[in-house]
Amino acid sequence: KEFNVAILGATGAVGTRMIQQLEQSTIPVKNVKLLASAHSAGKVLQFKGEDVTVEETTPESFEGVDLVLASAGGSVSKKFLPEAVKRGAVCVDNTSAFRMEPEVPLVIPEVNEKALYDHRGIISNPNCSTIQMVICLDPVYRKFGLKQVIVSTYQAVSGAGQSALNELMEESQQVLNGEKTDPKILPTKGDKKHYQQAFNLLPQIDVFEQDGYYTHEEWKMIHETKKIMLDDMDAKDIKVTATCVRVPIRIAHGETVYFEVADKSATTDQIKETLAAASGVVLQDDTAHQIYPQPILAEGKRDTFVGRVRPDYENEGSYHMWVVSDNLLKGAAWNTVQIAERLVADDLVRVPDNPYLGPDNH
Ligand code: A2P
Repeated sequence: KEFNVAILGATGAVGTRMIQQLEQSTIPVKNVKLLASAHSAGKVLQFKGEDVTVEETTPESFEGVDLVLASAGGSVSKKFLPEAVKRGAVCVDNTSAFRMEPEVPLVIPEVNEKALYDHRGIISNPNCSTIQMVICLDPVYRKFGLKQVIVSTYQAVSGAGQSALNELMEESQQVLNGEKTDPKILPTKGDKKHYQQAFNLLPQIDVFEQDGYYTHEEWKMIHETKKIMLDDMDAKDIKVTATCVRVPIRIAHGETVYFEVADKSATTDQIKETLAAASGVVLQDDTAHQIYPQPILAEGKRDTFVGRVRPDYENEGSYHMWVVSDNLLKGAAWNTVQIAERLVADDLVRVPDNPYLGPDNH
């Protein structure tokens, strides 16, 4: 069987990578539809060397589509994915729109592929920062148990979209030219004030929560991690907390992760062996030769890289690691296409009789 695939948000930072990842995937594609806003309609992009004209997204765009890969923002997914499901398309959504809905599997294939069997039309891709942390933590958790996780992120600007990336490049040039910058997007389009990101660090990703303490990005890392890791196993809670910081780099997020395992007989070598054996994870850890993960080395790669794995000498059974991954690939486009590949391989590209049409349409 061959599949009609639509990419929603095809002109964006993630959407353009979805096109590339789909070209390189094992999915037999009959036809590809590239969907964006009215503003991009008529623009010509390429799929496997052929010209494809970008179309404005309407509910009718999804007629005859088997699979939708979406990354056009949460509100766009909320509006269009139920329309796509109604028309029989299975949707893999990279936005946060449906991630925490109990009817929606939240999937990292290396971690909880089984959850795909329960899908009702919409499957969510976790947040980029969550994916690269959990792909490393889950194998440790399965072997040694986990009591607590404290993560600090160093997140690339491309996570905020192509326009934010353009803003970083422009600001960087302005600073080097001794000119004044004029921030309009970062730290987040969704908030009132905007700050210079070039040569600066912004401890705000997404808007602040109602409690006035945490950002929504931090909230996502905490709750998505629990949904993915705990739903999959008969386990007690894991304590998770996060601090998310935007750094002035283009692509690939870094994270320092502190974690405490339950099995205190674990050794640092065993933790490193577990990470080295983990699917989708590459251990780059050789301090004698100054080998450790770096964003510029991770860019364009599907894997997640981990290094600086070391014991916390002050806390028994606790460790630190440094995790780097291309936020646009494993964090977004590749994880989404990888989910679609598994759906195809397991004959799951079909909407069941009780489709999930969003929180307002039970
Ligand atoms: P467009 O380029 O036409 O604005 P990024 O994450 O890089 O900011 O990209 C966002 C993607 O979502 C782009 O492809 C953008 O298309 C698309 N998009 C934004 N708003 C809509 C909308 N209302 N309907 C469909 N696609 C949209």
